[in-house]
Amino acid sequence: MAGQIHESWSSRSAFLMAAVGSAVGLGNIWRFPFIAGENGGGAFVLVYLICIAAVGLPVLIAELSIGRRGGLSTIGSTREVAIQEGRSRGWQIIGWMAIAAPILGLLFYSTVAGWAFAYIFETAAGVFRGISPEGSGKVLAALHADPLQMAGWHFLFMAATVVIVAKGIRGGLEKAINWMMPLLFLLLLILVAYAAWAGDFRRGVAFLFNPDFARLTPQAILIAMGQAFFTLSLGGGGMMTYGAYLPKGVSLPRTGVVIVAADTLVAILAGLAIFPLVFAYGLTPAGGPGLIFVTLPIAFGQMPLGTLFGTLFFILLAVAALTSSISMLEPVVSYLEEHKGFKRARMALISGLVIWVAGLGSVLSFNIWAEFYPLSFFPLFAKARVFDILNYVTANIFMTLGSLLVAVFVGWLMSRATSVAEFGMGDGPAYRLWRFLIRYVGPLAVGIIFIFGITSL
Ligand code: PHE
Repeated sequence: MAGQIHESWSSRSAFLMAAVGSAVGLGNIWRFPFIAGENGGGAFVLVYLICIAAVGLPVLIAELSIGRRGGLSTIGSTREVAIQEGRSRGWQIIGWMAIAAPILGLLFYSTVAGWAFAYIFETAAGVFRGISPEGSGKVLAALHADPLQMAGWHFLFMAATVVIVAKGIRGGLEKAINWMMPLLFLLLLILVAYAAWAGDFRRGVAFLFNPDFARLTPQAILIAMGQAFFTLSLGGGGMMTYGAYLPKGVSLPRTGVVIVAADTLVAILAGLAIFPLVFAYGLTPAGGPGLIFVTLPIAFGQMPLGTLFGTLFFILLAVAALTSSISMLEPVVSYLEEHKGFKRARMALISGLVIWVAGLGSVLSFNIWAEFYPLSFFPLFAKARVFDILNYVTANIFMTLGSLLVAVFVGWLMSRATSVAEFGMGDGPAYRLWRFLIRYVGPLAVGIIFIFGITSL
C-alpha cells in the first residue's frame, strides 16, 4: 500500500546523498560554530560529540527503522508500527512531533538561509574586498536592518524549497544533491587550509578541543545535546520520512554511520575554518547568529581568489541549507499526500506559503521586533527575540523530546524480533550495543540532561 502513495529512492546512494543532505546544512556550518562559541568551546564540543555517538547514531538508526517499517509519513508510520506491535495508536504523537519540529525549524532556518542568498551577491560584487572586521559587521547589520530585503531572500529560499519538494523525490531531490555535497566538502577543506595559514590556528584548535569544564553548565549540556539532534535532523521528521522511501535491503546501521561521520566531519571542519579567523581578527567567539557571516567574508576579502571562493562558498551554503530545508518540508507534504485529493505540488505550495508568512517573525526579529521579547516572563527567554526562541525550542525541546520518544518506542515497545530484522545484522554484539544504547543510555541521558537543563534556569 505504501508503495502506491509514495515514491521510493532510485538507488541506495541516492538515499544516502539525500540523508546526508538533510543532516549537513546550516546546523553544521552556521549553528554549530555559533553556539559552540557562545558556550565556551572545548567542553561543549566534547559533550556534543559524545551525544552524537552515544545517542544520535542509535536514534538515527531507530528513526530510519520506524520509517522503513511503516512506509508512510511520520504520523502514518508511527501509527502503523504501533499497531503492528500491538501498542496504542497514541504513539503517533511521535509522528506529530516530527512534523511540528521541522515546521518550527523552518521558521528560523529560512531566514538564515536568506542571508546566505544575500551573501552570494554581496561577495560576488566584491563588497568584502579588503574589508575590516568592523566593516564586515556593518554589512551584516545593514542586511539585518532591512526587513524587506530579508523577507525577499527568505521568500526566494522558501520558493526554491517548495519547487524541489513539489517535483517529488526523484525529480527534485536526488538530482540536486548528488554533485553539490562533495563540492561543499571540498570548499570547506580549502577554507580550513586558509584558516591554518592565515588565522590563529593554535588558538582556534585549542578553543574547540581543550575542554574547560567550568563552562559546562546544565544549560550548555542541554544545548550541546540539542545540537546533536538538530544537526542529524533527529526528531525532525526528515530521516523517518526518507526512511519510508527506503528499500528493505539497505543496511540501516551502515547507512547511519556514514551519515553521522559526514555530518560530524563537516561541523568540525566548519569550526576549524572559523575559530582561527575569529581569533586572528580579534572577534569574539560568542558573536551570536551572525558569527560566520561576519568572520568568513573578512577572510574572503583577504585571500587570493577570495571573491571566487567566497561566492562559491555562499552558493554551496545556500544549497546545503536547501537540501536540509527540503527534508523539513517533506514530512509535512508526505503527510498531506496521504489524504485523498491532496496533490503533492499544491500541498507543497500551501505549506511553503504558510511557513513563509509565519517565518516573517524571524525576519522582523532583526529589525522592527529586535526588542520584542514575547516570552520574557520565562527567565530563559527574558531577552529572546522570536528568532532566538524558535532556534532554542526547535532543537532543545521539540527535537530532543522527539528523539527521546523514538528511543523509548524502538527500545521498549518494538518487539525484539522486529528490531533485529530492521537492524539487519543479526543479533550479535553490534545489535546488542545498539539496543543497550537505545533502551537505557538514550532515554536516561536525554531525560536527565533535559530536566536539569530546563530547571537550571
Ligand atoms: N540537520 C539540518 C542541519 O544541520 C537541519 C534539520 C533539522 C533538517 C530538522 C531536518 C530536520 O542543518
